Amino acid sequence: MTDVRARILQALRGAGEDFVSGEELSRGLGISRTAVWKHIRYLQAVGYPIEAVRHRGYRLLHGEGPLRADRIQAGLATSRFGRHLEVLETVDSTNRYAFEAAERGAPEGYAVLAERQTGGKGRRGRPWFSPPGTGIWMSLVLRPPLPLHRAPQLTLMTAVSVAEAVRSETGVPVVIKWPNDLLLPDGRKVCGILLEMSAETDHIRFIVLGIGLNVFQREEDFPEELRHSAGSLAMAGGHRTLCRTTLVQAVLGALERDYDRYIAEGGFAPFRSRWEALNATLGRAVSVLMTDRTIFGVARRIDDEGALWVETGGGRVERVVSAEVLFDGPFHTFGGMD
Ligand code: BTN
Repeated sequence: MTDVRARILQALRGAGEDFVSGEELSRGLGISRTAVWKHIRYLQAVGYPIEAVRHRGYRLLHGEGPLRADRIQAGLATSRFGRHLEVLETVDSTNRYAFEAAERGAPEGYAVLAERQTGGKGRRGRPWFSPPGTGIWMSLVLRPPLPLHRAPQLTLMTAVSVAEAVRSETGVPVVIKWPNDLLLPDGRKVCGILLEMSAETDHIRFIVLGIGLNVFQREEDFPEELRHSAGSLAMAGGHRTLCRTTLVQAVLGALERDYDRYIAEGGFAPFRSRWEALNATLGRAVSVLMTDRTIFGVARRIDDEGALWVETGGGRVERVVSAEVLFDGPFHTFGGMD
């Protein structure tokens, strides 16, 4: 985004519910009113819900209409990710849909989004709550030239990319819980990542990377069993106006850039310090649920492969590659943020 457009958005956000006149913007930015209007038209075209009223000026509206593939693509700064893109009204699961598209040969970067999922999939066979119009339910096809054992690192990389994109787009300081949850500052889960894969004996055929990001829900919109643990960007304040279109554009842009770097530089090591800066896991008492057993301890560090090292007492340390982590005790400080 050009500096001028970013400054226009900043001015509109700063004005809250009020209009900002074209005159004021033109004076503040040192450009003509026609130039202001052209920038506004561009911002509207890429999805910002900006109202323009004659003699009053411009203001950002709350919420936005349904997602549209052409709007998302109009503001995409990628060369592959999202260049083939579908937006569905309703689907059981975008991951299931993308998986079948990949089986039929969908190219790397193919993305599918849905306004609503009727059978959204979470990790460990759990459902993912995906009501209409409230979040980003998106799946992306990847065809990485990688051995099987490297796949989990892509989840960690995705958590870093999405967290950074969300922070810069919305101002919400989300943090990462190893391996793949994004949490709000109060510990509520705001985003989950589900990586599914088709593989030969030793290499990956394709990956479907599913991202579920809660944007507009209020606490009462979540079902009872999630009400205390799930959150949305709107619940965390964010910028006054959240826009799913620009969030999708930012997430796809960040993912393409990081994925290319991951493949070119051969692994997770270049992402480790970024992960550490965003992490809410290290230094915490944790329960680690693996397929065959659960261990308890303190999360101490992650290594260049993205594995979590957990100190389990008596000087013993376990290196965990794949598991689910639960925090023991209340969530009120941030290991990675101080
Ligand atoms: C988790 O349990 O944390 C992972 C949740 C992943 C949800 C997303 S929503 C888009 C994509 N389609 C699905 O069915 N699941 C993923």
